[in-house]
Amino acid sequence: MKVDRRDRYRRAGPFPERHRTVVTGGAGFIGSHLCDRLLQRGDSVICVDVLQTGSMDNIRALLNHPKFAFQRHDVREPLAVSGPVDRIYNLACPASPIHYQRDPIGTLKTCVLGAANLLELANAKGSRILQASTSEVYGDPEIHPQPEAYVGHVNPIGPRACYDEGKRAAEALFFDYRRTHEVAIKVARIFNTYGPRMLEEDGRVVSNFIVQALRGEPITIYGSGAQTRSFCFIDDLVAGLELLMESPETVTGPCNLGNPEETSVEEIARRILALTGSRSGIDLRPLPQDDPKRRRPVIDRAAETLGWTPKIRLEDGLRETIAYFSLRVGQRKDEVNVANIESARARRRSPRSHDVERAHT
Ligand SMILES: NC(=O)c1ccc[n+]([C@@H]2O[C@H](COP(=O)([O-])OP(=O)(O)OC[C@H]3O[C@@H](n4cnc5c(N)ncnc54)[C@H](O)[C@@H]3O)[C@@H](O)[C@H]2O)c1
Repeated sequence: MKVDRRDRYRRAGPFPERHRTVVTGGAGFIGSHLCDRLLQRGDSVICVDVLQTGSMDNIRALLNHPKFAFQRHDVREPLAVSGPVDRIYNLACPASPIHYQRDPIGTLKTCVLGAANLLELANAKGSRILQASTSEVYGDPEIHPQPEAYVGHVNPIGPRACYDEGKRAAEALFFDYRRTHEVAIKVARIFNTYGPRMLEEDGRVVSNFIVQALRGEPITIYGSGAQTRSFCFIDDLVAGLELLMESPETVTGPCNLGNPEETSVEEIARRILALTGSRSGIDLRPLPQDDPKRRRPVIDRAAETLGWTPKIRLEDGLRETIAYFSLRVGQRKDEVNVANIESARARRRSPRSHDVERAHT
């Protein structure tokens, strides 16, 4: 039985007010899901994207929606929006190392100039603004798991610095705009998120492993595979972003949003192999410089202030993601050991996951 996405999303509310909302990076993986969600709750959405890593495919279904507008724009330039703006979600930035390291100077400018331009817009319009920050602000953490109070362990001159330090500078700008101009800010520190619409072969663990498994290619693990990640399904994350945005103005964050269930990279590879029925082997490669060894959020703040905890089990999220990629990579459905997207979603109707869903309300 098909699970209507709107049923899931409704549990994150209710938010009776309707807003005029700008989503930068709205054609990307997270941004496009956020646009879906905001339109479903009745917002008018202006999606702003330069289509660097995002795609019109992600928002094609929205283009005829009467409350949806797409504006092709680079956030490194000031953004002009006519009329009122109630909410701004700043997601514009390539998120995977392959993409953000391709043009590191451009990435740093997107982080910093993008944040400054959007904060200027928020200040001019009196809008709330939420920054999509990242667990990368913790760098290769010396404490584990990571609470928001941890100030991080970042290499400022390494190959990841364009992203890590860019996001840290953006956070600084957000808090300076609050102190200086009283802009209503929200900072979300997003941990690894996965789900449909991730780019294929972008170097992120889940998408890479799934695509390699579906193609029958060896799964590439950098390092021994003992390094851990915590994986949050996209619907959980979008619910968290919305709850943070709609929280009282005194709640600024930074607020970790991620799934505290820690999984080793090798374990995730094995789960994906099992769920896809793939016979792919595992190919161990040297660990890239500055690759964090452990990563897990402390989400007490999100739980206490937003009533948010992730609800979707890794296995259910993986099934849905595998179903998406199995269509993308052109596999016949019966070649992989997963059902189609509808039945993958229907699995979430199990009493257990249904109970947990209520945690968002
Ligand atoms: N996916 C994750 O696990 C994760 C984790 C932590 C933080 N984040 C943050 O969330 C945000 C969205 O990530 P995502 O996974 O959807 O990545 P994504 O690459 O799919 O989306 C980013 C979007 O921003 C757009 N963009 C990039 N530079 C731009 C610019 N200068 N002007 C306008 N648009 C621009 C891209 O075209 C793309 O559509 C990013 O800011 C990222 O840093 C993501």
